[in-house]
Amino acid sequence: MTNNPASDKTLRLDKYVASVTDFSRSDVKKLIKAGDIEVDGQVVINPATLVSSDAQLALDGQPLRAATPRYFMLHKPAGFVSATRDKWHPTVMELLHEDNLERLHIAGRLDADTTGLLLITDDGQWAHQVMSPKSRCYKRYHVTTEADIPAAAVERFARGLFLDEEKRRTLPARLEILSPRQAWLEICEGKFHQVKRMFSALDNKVVALHRQAVGELELDETLAEGEYRALTADEVTMLAREAGND
Ligand code: URA
Repeated sequence: MTNNPASDKTLRLDKYVASVTDFSRSDVKKLIKAGDIEVDGQVVINPATLVSSDAQLALDGQPLRAATPRYFMLHKPAGFVSATRDKWHPTVMELLHEDNLERLHIAGRLDADTTGLLLITDDGQWAHQVMSPKSRCYKRYHVTTEADIPAAAVERFARGLFLDEEKRRTLPARLEILSPRQAWLEICEGKFHQVKRMFSALDNKVVALHRQAVGELELDETLAEGEYRALTADEVTMLAREAGND
């Protein structure tokens, strides 16, 4: 996600490329050194360069994807961090019973105390498109707050507001107040702790946060917390289309 200080830069470029192609590590190193691999549109020639898991890779100008990309939705429980590794806390990856876990990446992290729909895939390009603010693919959150939500918040969020240390207003967000301290909020960005910071800008505090949908894709209600399933081909295509990727 953009502007997320926690975004992991933990993948070596050569390892990442090898994981999404049939090339051996030594062949991948040669390709990188020859200048054939681009990361987010820039040629990178050092195989040891650390790249983010949502970086877009290309070989000879062609986007690289895993041979058979996998796409999962997880009902994230509270208490699990959205990271591939963590020294102190359990990670969402520990909930997946899949081979080659190191190839999978989280598309749009959730805070440790946030529950709900988390997408996990080895198709970095798809993940990037779906989560990019440019795609205007809205994510819907159910928010519970400590204090009452004023009616004026609807207009403030729709207009966008300045969060600490941000130079630009937040993009238009849709707020539907359900009860004095509960609301649906739809945002199409993923700034660090964005929902919590938006309510904090109104001198309120989020006490519970749950992601219910990403674009048209709703959290499957048959999934208990901690359970996951593969996305159907239709769901993958629907999100790609929504994000303008198809
Ligand atoms: N906004 C937040 O503040 N936290 C999340 O987990 C997701 C969006």
